[in-house]
Amino acid sequence: MKAYTELTHEELALELASEQERYRDYLARDLKLNMARGKPSPEQLDLSLPLLDLVLGDRAAELLHAGAADDYRNYGGLTGLPALRELFGALLEVPASNVIVGGNASLSLMYNLIALAMTHGVLGSTPWVSLERKPAFLCPVPGYDRHFSICEFFGIEMIPVPLLPTGPDMYTVETLVTTDERIKGIWCVPRFSNPTGCVYSDETVERFANLKPAARDFRIYWDNAYAVHEFAQPGQASDKTTLLNLKNACDRAGNHNLWYQFTSTSKITFAGGGIAAMASSEENIESITSALSMQTIGPDKINQQRHALFLPDLAAVHEHMAKQAAFLRPRFAAVLRVLEAGLAETGIGEWTTPQGGYFISFNGPPRTAKRTVELAAQAGVVLTPAGATYPYGRDPRDSNIRIAPSYPALEELELAAEVLVTCVRIAALEQLIQ
Ligand SMILES: Cc1ncc(COP(=O)(O)O)c(C=O)c1O
Repeated sequence: MKAYTELTHEELALELASEQERYRDYLARDLKLNMARGKPSPEQLDLSLPLLDLVLGDRAAELLHAGAADDYRNYGGLTGLPALRELFGALLEVPASNVIVGGNASLSLMYNLIALAMTHGVLGSTPWVSLERKPAFLCPVPGYDRHFSICEFFGIEMIPVPLLPTGPDMYTVETLVTTDERIKGIWCVPRFSNPTGCVYSDETVERFANLKPAARDFRIYWDNAYAVHEFAQPGQASDKTTLLNLKNACDRAGNHNLWYQFTSTSKITFAGGGIAAMASSEENIESITSALSMQTIGPDKINQQRHALFLPDLAAVHEHMAKQAAFLRPRFAAVLRVLEAGLAETGIGEWTTPQGGYFISFNGPPRTAKRTVELAAQAGVVLTPAGATYPYGRDPRDSNIRIAPSYPALEELELAAEVLVTCVRIAALEQLIQ
């Protein structure tokens, strides 16, 4: 087959008619498929069920330090169990003393930091609500919609920055951050980014660490949600997947307070029933801990202890994640296979081939994403809304679609990807014929 751009008007019309026929077949099948949910599959969650048995029965009192000064059944321990601070420290490659473990969602930690900056500033800076000019954040695009929602909720202006395979376009980041005092932060998912799956290059991390922000309360919001979520076959990884240590790079640059790092076990153990953590410089952590003490008398140390027993060290995390990878690997491979088989020859569309994380980023021709998602929905395949990967839900090219292969069963996923291919083809042909 020739690429779509090489087809005559008549050939395009024929091709469209044939795709529409295939589409009608899908419509008749009354499908109910979903490729929008970036969440672990039931099989992945099953892997963590043994965690629930760890503080039951006769040994529960002993394991929860019953009667001791740090009795886990009681209030206290604001910054989290020492064992978990150690674990997250190892996972984020920072000392345990730089870590706060608390709550069940890293997103809440991010939200709280922004809320705190709005009302109280950052290390003594002017609270953002009192600024004469509205604060702004840089938002690498395509990116994670919930980061953008936090900004939108607090009225923080969002400035899109292109996300390249090496990370955000650092020339743009440096230019804006050094010249515009309104810019208070940047959202980053540095390893297996949501949705492209890219891993920031060492040069990108170094350039982040060496930023000279105009605003002294500017921070890098380093959301390391997929820090240990690699699924490439061992030995087969062709791209670099290691991430340079931001803390060390910032320390070398004398920019000790420039970073906040976040992660959680939402996609390690239970999504929503796991443990979240953040890390930062001593000074930032001290200030955040003091504010945290106004919010809570202590975290859920019972769930923390279950996690500490289930995942005693980083090796245990990697061992557990290797089991998760065995479920994710074939799902990603299936979607990529269907995209390749259905679209490569047509010359329309491009997509990422991640080696970890939860998403594939797909770009169709301009002005086709909304139409593709609409066609898929009518055929019973739910996709992430077009535009969701951009601030305010506005993708200026209307081309990006986030694909989430983790949740559906393999056969369902293959079928959903085939429907997607047909919808992409129809949307593209409609554009070309116009
Ligand atoms: C980049 C990123 N950060 C954070 C989260 C949510 O994490 P948590 O469950 O810890 O709030 C997700 C979930 O999809 C994500 O993709």
